[in-house]
Amino acid sequence: MKAEQLSNLMVIFGGTGDLTHRKLIPALYNLLNEGILPDAFAVVSVGRRNKTSEEYREELKKSVQQYSRFSMEQEKWEVLAQKIHYYPLDFRQGEGYTSLDDYLKKMEKQYGTKGNRMYYLAVAPEYFEVIVDHLHAYEMTDSSEGWKRVVIEKPFGRDLQSARYLNKKITHAFTEQNTYRIDHYLGKEMLQNIMVIRFANAFFEPIWNNKFIDHIQISSSETLGVEERGGYYEKAGVLRDMIQNHMLQLLALTAMEPPVRLDTESIRDEKVKILKGLRKMSVEEIRSNVILGQYGSNGEKKGYRQENRISPTSDTETFMALKVQIENFRWGGVPFYIRTGKRLPKKSTEIIVQFKSIPEILYWKEFENLKPNLLVIRIQPMEGIFMQFNAKKPGTETQIIPVQMDFCQNCEIGSNSPEAYERLLYDVMKGDSTLFTRWDEVEYSWRFIDTIAKAWEREKPLFPNYDAGTWGPKEADELLRKDGRKWWIL
Ligand SMILES: NC(=O)c1ccc[n+]([C@@H]2O[C@H](COP(=O)([O-])OP(=O)(O)OC[C@H]3O[C@@H](n4cnc5c(N)ncnc54)[C@H](OP(=O)(O)O)[C@@H]3O)[C@@H](O)[C@H]2O)c1
Repeated sequence: MKAEQLSNLMVIFGGTGDLTHRKLIPALYNLLNEGILPDAFAVVSVGRRNKTSEEYREELKKSVQQYSRFSMEQEKWEVLAQKIHYYPLDFRQGEGYTSLDDYLKKMEKQYGTKGNRMYYLAVAPEYFEVIVDHLHAYEMTDSSEGWKRVVIEKPFGRDLQSARYLNKKITHAFTEQNTYRIDHYLGKEMLQNIMVIRFANAFFEPIWNNKFIDHIQISSSETLGVEERGGYYEKAGVLRDMIQNHMLQLLALTAMEPPVRLDTESIRDEKVKILKGLRKMSVEEIRSNVILGQYGSNGEKKGYRQENRISPTSDTETFMALKVQIENFRWGGVPFYIRTGKRLPKKSTEIIVQFKSIPEILYWKEFENLKPNLLVIRIQPMEGIFMQFNAKKPGTETQIIPVQMDFCQNCEIGSNSPEAYERLLYDVMKGDSTLFTRWDEVEYSWRFIDTIAKAWEREKPLFPNYDAGTWGPKEADELLRKDGRKWWIL
C-alpha cells in the first residue's frame, strides 16, 4: 500500500479519557516501535479540560510507560510526542467546530497528511450522535479530498431501536465503508487465528459439525469487579457489555461457514448468516435457558451493589450463562453454551469444543470415566490451543488416561503479541474493515439480544445470587447438568 494512503490525521474525541490513555496512545507507540506508523501522521486530541499540548504529552508519557508492551525509550517517545496536539473544546458546542476544522487543516499542512482523517469517538455513547452531527454540519466528513473515516466505540446502541437510530445518523454523515464499529475482541490475535485454525488445516473442518461435535462452550470470565466504570456498567450490564458484541462475535467466528474468499465482505457475509440463524426463543425458553447473576460480597471483596457509582438496590446483571442454538444444517442439535461474568475465580476467554463420545463398544465398555475429546482455543490471557484425548498409561496393564497437548502461543520466547487496538488502528489507516462489525451484524445481534432483555425486564432473579470469586449462580451449573453436561475449567 502506498504511504500516501496510510498517512492521516487522527482526531480523538475524548483525548483525556481512560481509553485514550490506556489503549489508543500506547497502541500508537507500539505501531511506531513496529516501524509501521506512517511518517505523515499526527494526532489532535479533543477534550473538555484546559491544558497545553506540553502538559498533555507529559500525562500521556506516563500512560505509555505503564501500558505499552514496548518499554519506553525517550528518543522514540519524542518522535511520537511531537506529533500529538491537544485541542480543548466542548464537543456539544457546534460553533467550536469551525475553528477546530481550521486547526485540523493547519495540522494537515504541517504533517502532510493529504486530507485523510480518522475521527475516533472515544467518548460515552450518548455523545456519538452529537459529534457526528456536528462533523457533518460543519462539512468535515467529505471524502473527496482525502478519506474521512469514523471509528465508533462500543456499545453501539442499547437496543435495536437505538442502534438503528444511531446508525441512521452516522450513515447520513459517513458511508458504511468509512464507518468502523469497533469490537476490540476482533483485534485479538487468537480471534483472527480461529479462521486460520479452522480453514487452513485438513483435520478440523471435516469434523466441525453436528456429526462429531457434542456441544461448544464459549466463556469469558473476569476476576475484576466493575472498578471505576460503574456509571457505564449500570446502564449496560453484562448483556450489552459482553454478550451483544464480543460473545456473539466469538460464536459467529466459531460457527460460520468457510467464506468464498478472504475479503472483508465475504467474511462478514458468513458471520451475519450465523447471527441470523440464532434460534428465537419464547419467553419461557429464555427464562430457563438464560441465567442471570449479580455478585455479592464474599466478606473480602465488595458486592456489586457496594461498588462506586452503583445503586444499593441495583438489579443490573454482572453474570450471564445461556444456551443457544443455530438453525442450520451444520449445527442443528448442537447447543452452544455461553458464560461470562465479573468477579469470577479466573480471568480467561476460551472456546471449548467437546466432541461426541466414541461408540459404546471396545474401550468404552471396559473403562469407566473415559474422557471426551476436547479442543480448546484459548483467547486470553493465554493464547493457544489445547487438546485432550485418551491414551494408554505406560505400564504392563492397559489403563487409559486423558492426555493433553498444549500449544501456548504467547509462552514462546520472543512472542510479544500485538494489542488488539494496534491491529485495529492500523486497519483503519489501511482502510480494511474486516475486523470491524458491519451494520447488519449489529442489527441481527440486537434482534437476538432484545428478546432476551425483554423476557427478563419485568422480573429478575433475587440479586445478589453469587458470591464474588465463585462461578456464578448455581442455576448456571444446572443449565448444563440437566443436559448431562458440565462447564469445563481447564
Ligand atoms: N476505557 C476502556 O477501557 C474502554 C473499553 C472499551 C470501550 N470503551 C468505550 O470508549 C469510550 C470512552 O470510554 P472512556 O473510559 O475513555 O471514557 P472516559 O474516561 O469517561 O473519557 C471520556 C472523555 O470524553 C470527554 N468528554 C466528555 N464530555 C465532553 C464534552 N462535552 N466535550 C469534550 N469532551 C468531553 C472527556 O473529557 P474531559 O475529561 O476533559 O471532560 C474524556 O476525554 C466509551 O464509549 C466506552 O464505552 C472504553
